[in-house]
Amino acid sequence: MKQKKEKLLSGKKEADGLTRRDFLKGAGVAVSGSILVGEAQAEANPAEGSAQVQGPGEVPVTLRVNGETRRLNLEPRVTLLDALRDRLDLTGAKKVCDRATCGACTMLMDDRPVYGCTVLAIEAQGHEVTTIEHFSKGGKLHPMMSAFVEHDAQQCGFCTPGFVMACIAFLKTHPNPTMEEVEKGLGGNLCRCGTYWGIRHAVLDAAKAMSAEAEGGLIHG
Ligand code: FES
Ligand code: FES
Repeated sequence: MKQKKEKLLSGKKEADGLTRRDFLKGAGVAVSGSILVGEAQAEANPAEGSAQVQGPGEVPVTLRVNGETRRLNLEPRVTLLDALRDRLDLTGAKKVCDRATCGACTMLMDDRPVYGCTVLAIEAQGHEVTTIEHFSKGGKLHPMMSAFVEHDAQQCGFCTPGFVMACIAFLKTHPNPTMEEVEKGLGGNLCRCGTYWGIRHAVLDAAKAMSAEAEGGLIHG
């Protein structure tokens, strides 16, 4: 068990697997899109492509969060995580490391997992942001949440919202995963309490429940 945990945290590349670094790369592609577009335009045509300077004071920012349009005035330096937690009272995503290490702030942008602490709110404009609050609307728990409860996949629970979001995102691309795929696929999230075993079993169970519910058209999100 100790060896397995060390392997998970080390981020070593497996022969055909997804490592923690791969997860970060995937998240980074999603979050840096707007910057890259600006840079590409600047290279093609310096006059037209030069980015418009924003701030340092507050500027209008329009976000799409959990299917709703939210308008805010924010300094451009404000992260998506801080905007959601401090301005929209969406506190499900947790701020732990605040530097793309732990995964506690995991949320979805256009159905892809990102670390909310590494995305600027201003960059998230034009994308569909989904937080964990979306998956318990109306008091009905998403199957992943139910599976976490069933498998006692949390202790202090601080990492849990980020893990649930990472697991939901993982099943979107791996609807019928093996245990090994689950282990590798969740390498972007850390649990200080060491609840990995329960989490992995929760993902396997949720995968079965979700495919059964999808057939009946019952899954939301
Ligand atoms: S708080 Fe964002 S990765 Fe740790
Ligand atoms: S349950 Fe405590 S950090 Fe994961």
